[in-house]
Amino acid sequence: MKKVLVATDKPFAPVAVKGIRQVVEKAGYTLLLLEKYTTPEQLYEAAAEADAMIVRSDLVTREVMNAAKNLKIVVRAGAGYDNIDLAAATEKGIVAMNTPGQNSNAVAELALGMMVYSARGMFSGKSGTELRGKKLGIHAFGFVGRYVAMIAKGFGMDIYAFDPFVPAETIPAAGVKPVASAEELYKTCQYISLHIPANAETKKSIGLKLLSLMPDDGVLVNTARKEVIQEEELMQVMEQKPRYQYLTDVAPDAFEAFQEKFAGRYYATPKKMGAQTEEANINAGIAAAEQIRDFFEKGDIRFKVNK
Ligand code: 3PG
Repeated sequence: MKKVLVATDKPFAPVAVKGIRQVVEKAGYTLLLLEKYTTPEQLYEAAAEADAMIVRSDLVTREVMNAAKNLKIVVRAGAGYDNIDLAAATEKGIVAMNTPGQNSNAVAELALGMMVYSARGMFSGKSGTELRGKKLGIHAFGFVGRYVAMIAKGFGMDIYAFDPFVPAETIPAAGVKPVASAEELYKTCQYISLHIPANAETKKSIGLKLLSLMPDDGVLVNTARKEVIQEEELMQVMEQKPRYQYLTDVAPDAFEAFQEKFAGRYYATPKKMGAQTEEANINAGIAAAEQIRDFFEKGDIRFKVNK
């Protein structure tokens, strides 16, 4: 009988685990559950028996794959798969997948929530501003970017987007103004919401060059990845622009320095929580379980992300 391991350092909501279990057991497989583990060794041990794995931001390294001798498929229940060593997976003949779109609304709601939090002086009681009429720049127009646009329309924001990887008609078709470069986006907008993936091209790509183009009261909202930020240059911008704000769902490496220097205009969630809703956990977790079932039963590799 095939064994499907759900390995989550940050567990899914119980109702999502229940849904995953139903899909797995209905297919005739066994569910193994490893939650809140604290060492990689615990993951190696649990992975040893697994034919398939479902993870979140958990690191699926070469060592994990070495330990998982029976592993055929690993599904990242979520969008970003920068936590999986894709080259190692390909070498070992392991299929890696993500579940695109399944948790995106939750991330988008948090991004807008952070904008409200920032506009209202971080709920300090002092007089704030409104989002209506303010210029919002969406950097990358994938699933999350599109949900952000949809919700921001409800707030009456003036919405722009830049994404060279989507077909030209996608952005205007969503009622959003496309711009020709990242520079133009950052120059035009007071609010920037980041939705780029973390990869070799994007890591540390958001720094002085783009951020210094933003207005003095600019607000950067990062629900993407901490790795895309050039932290020292962001700090430089925040020093140069005393009203500039940074809100992030992914605590920076220089967490304490940000906290110390920019109190009142910097906020980081204690744990990445963009996709931390029951709905997102159910959608992404169940999609992952179904993708595993369809891979074993029908050879379906539609969501494969490695070569
Ligand atoms: C994603 O890439 O799907 C999000 O960053 C969510 O990550 P999480 O499942 O670790 O919360």
